[in-house]
Amino acid sequence: MAKARSRYVCTNCGTAIIRWEGRCPSCKEWDTLVEEVIDKTPSKALPSDRSTGKSPINLSDIISTQQSRVAIQNDPELTRVLGGGIVPGAITLIGGQPGIGKSTLMLQLACQLPNKVLYVSGEESAYQIKMRADRIAKKSDNCFILCETQLEQIIRHAEEQQPEMLLIDSIQTIQSIKVESPAGSVSQIRECTSELQQYAKSTDTPVFIIGHITKEGSLAGPKLLEHIVDVVLQFEGDRNYIYRILRTIKNRFGSTDEIGIYEMESYGLRPVSNPSELLISPGDEKLSGTSIASTLEGARPLLIETQALVSQSVFGHPQRSATGFDNRRLSMLLAVLEKKCNLFFSQHDVFLNLAGGIRVTDPAIDLSIVASLISSLHDIPIDKKICFAGEIGLSGEVRAVNRIEQRIIEADRLGFHQIFISKYHKKGIPKDLNIEIKMIGKLSELIELIFT
Ligand code: TYD
Ligand code: MG
Repeated sequence: MAKARSRYVCTNCGTAIIRWEGRCPSCKEWDTLVEEVIDKTPSKALPSDRSTGKSPINLSDIISTQQSRVAIQNDPELTRVLGGGIVPGAITLIGGQPGIGKSTLMLQLACQLPNKVLYVSGEESAYQIKMRADRIAKKSDNCFILCETQLEQIIRHAEEQQPEMLLIDSIQTIQSIKVESPAGSVSQIRECTSELQQYAKSTDTPVFIIGHITKEGSLAGPKLLEHIVDVVLQFEGDRNYIYRILRTIKNRFGSTDEIGIYEMESYGLRPVSNPSELLISPGDEKLSGTSIASTLEGARPLLIETQALVSQSVFGHPQRSATGFDNRRLSMLLAVLEKKCNLFFSQHDVFLNLAGGIRVTDPAIDLSIVASLISSLHDIPIDKKICFAGEIGLSGEVRAVNRIEQRIIEADRLGFHQIFISKYHKKGIPKDLNIEIKMIGKLSELIELIFT
């Protein structure tokens, strides 16, 4: 009899090797290799193409699924992120750190839909789920809860119940009897996901899978899961803040530029349709060191307040600290201000903060950060009806940024009086708006127009 063979699979990247090693040779992570027994049962020969009875179909004869997308009425954010609604037969993976609100989001979705939904939980008991449902004050007669971790049972129940949507919370707790390794291992996750995919495609049922994130931040450990599923969403945010961002990482049926914004309230997640209003502190009080940036998150314009504090340094070594913004970029902006505008920060501590715990990588935020820095240095407040969108170059020039039209329209819609942008924008400047567009080429012009 042949000896049962085993191999070692990396839980991080899915690489399989024959001998155990302390470090994965592929992703260089330590202590991620786990043993897996290789199934010795001979694989059945694949049926030939002739026996499947499938024949090519003309592309123009295929009925588009666009009409059959299910829009989620009370959740425009999720609808947008999915590219216009839930696609039948699509398999969606939702990843995020523990406690971010994945189960809450999925339960809300399950209760909002008028159709029959099967919510499978391997993490919580039915009673615990009921408690959460009570908390989010959602009542539904169409949501069925199944506390089960065995994949074959889940599929059997699903086939019996014939729900119009299947939710799995979470993939790491589900186990198939076909694979010997424990729940959460690479081969289990892979097997369970492909079984669920088979189910989704053969019954045209949309399936949502919750996946935990590894400590390195990659989704559900092995990258290979991302290849199997149709849509990958990431739920992120700082747990100390109430904002949550649902980001599309992959979408076979829509754009990956979309984001959804939620607020975690005591009664569940509330979709935020106008995030800019939340990210700008209310009141007309004039405070120095703050200004408003017109940034983009994905394809969505977002007006964010940037705050700077420039204070006399008590130690010989001045501090630089930025929250939500790259520290090195802050140093670069300070260097440009020193060199090109003769503003000296070397004797000052500089602190920078973006409202709402949001992290921005859009370079268009530079201009607003520079304005806040100068405002704090000189202690001159900037009018709250002014906003900024421009990237700063190393020689102090204000550079053009992408999608300027959207940024200006959003600022105008929110009632801003003036927007400062680069003079190098050749097109895309909307006309007939109430907002005054100030085009500048150099930082010195900004100082002249605002601080003198
Ligand atoms: P949960 O959905 O359990 O997170 P995940 O499934 O991603 O691990 O959400 C847990 C957090 O959300 C928890 O820390 C409490 C908070 N929360 C609220 O603030 N309000 C609510 O109505 C609910 C249901 C949870
Ligand atoms: Mg959960």
